[in-house]
Amino acid sequence: MELADVDARWPGAAEPALRGARVRIPAGTHVAVVGPSGGGKSTLVAVLLGALGAERGRVRAPERPAWCPQDPQLVSTTIRENLRLAAPDASDQRLVEALRLAGLPGWGDRLDTPVGAGGSALSGGEAQRVALARALLVADAELVLLDEPTAHLDVPTADALLVRLRRALRDRTVIHVTHRWSETAHADVVLRVEGGEITVVRDADGALIPG
Ligand SMILES: Nc1ncnc2c1ncn2[C@@H]1O[C@H](COP(=O)(O)OP(=O)(O)O)[C@@H](O)[C@H]1O
Ligand SMILES: [Mg+2]
Repeated sequence: MELADVDARWPGAAEPALRGARVRIPAGTHVAVVGPSGGGKSTLVAVLLGALGAERGRVRAPERPAWCPQDPQLVSTTIRENLRLAAPDASDQRLVEALRLAGLPGWGDRLDTPVGAGGSALSGGEAQRVALARALLVADAELVLLDEPTAHLDVPTADALLVRLRRALRDRTVIHVTHRWSETAHADVVLRVEGGEITVVRDADGALIPG
């Protein structure tokens, strides 16, 4: 995956939200992304997702990434149908396994439960975990984009989740946006996005290839 001198601008914005982004990430690397609110972390995710095009430079990324957005974006139907948006043919057993991995063990008997408009019948943390389970169901996604998946979780719950994800996603490239520095311990590489600029904070094993 590679960004080569990328500028990206949201429609109508006066300034690009990402500027001069230059990074090459080998397949299988787990990347933590930190930085202040409004710094451009979700913009980086949008560019890798292909949702926001580069106005300058070149983006190379796998074609069908799995994406867990910062705002869970559930639709007003059952848990099963929300999960099946990612995997229309998935068996209930696969859905239950994804829920377990996302931190909702024992939700097998809630597949028929409606989530309410925009997920309003669930707590923020539950909605986020259903959205995470949905992202984990995208089959064969080489790239998994997780935008603040632990925002509503307490520290021990978040850590347990990240340990499970580390193992379950060991063959995938993972971009994990987080506002908690402690969570960067689970990553191979740490990037910081601030003022639209990306800097490498930690690259202990030399996993990043200089752009
Ligand atoms: N969907 C969007 N449409 C327009 N502007 C956006 C959108 N998402 C983010 N921005 C703008 O891009 C800049 C970076 O925001 P963002 O990438 O969301 O930061 P972070 O995720 O680090 O908090 C901000 O100025 C923000 O207002
Ligand atoms: Mg964000």
